[in-house]
Amino acid sequence: MPGYTIREADWNRDAERLGAVRRAVFIDEQGVPEALEWDEHDAVSAHWLAVAADDAPVGCVRLLPDGHLGRMAVLRGWRGRGVGKALLGAVLRAARARGHRMLRLSAQTHAAAFYARAGFVAHGAEYEEAGIPHVAMEKILS
Ligand SMILES: CC(C)(COP(=O)(O)OP(=O)(O)OC[C@H]1O[C@@H](n2cnc3c(N)ncnc32)[C@H](O)[C@@H]1OP(=O)(O)O)[C@@H](O)C(=O)NCCC(=O)NCCS
Repeated sequence: MPGYTIREADWNRDAERLGAVRRAVFIDEQGVPEALEWDEHDAVSAHWLAVAADDAPVGCVRLLPDGHLGRMAVLRGWRGRGVGKALLGAVLRAARARGHRMLRLSAQTHAAAFYARAGFVAHGAEYEEAGIPHVAMEKILS
């Protein structure tokens, strides 16, 4: 038993639960400034939540209408159990079903190998966003 499930979320209904994961991971753990964390893309993106058996949110990710994937986060205590991979799988399935031909993302460099395992390819030079090194990655969907 994985101990969690992945479900599609909705910003209007689930902003508090999605935001709780992102606050814990990006703002509290990684020191991303609050003003950079919340943006205009949340309201128009598709979102997914990973929830534990007690319904507590433990992970999240979003997909912008233009095929950019982002805000992938798993609570520290839940890492290494396949939650991130399952979230990524849900996005890939939905993106294919919605007709996307390519997914793009801006990966924190330390997480590039996580995305590479799912078939994303890095390109271009490293750059900084919110004080964290990033690399652009993309995956062509078949
Ligand atoms: C990156 C992150 C989402 C991975 O989530 P996770 O639930 O720990 O990942 P999983 O357990 O699903 O791992 C899936 C696979 O990727 C590998 N993996 C996970 N994190 C990795 C990393 N940082 N580097 C290399 N490989 C990694 C796992 O070993 C596993 O490999 P396998 O399929 O061969 O067994 C998580 O570490 C996280 O939230 N980090 C902090 C926030 C962050 O940096 N987000 C990314 C922003 S771009």
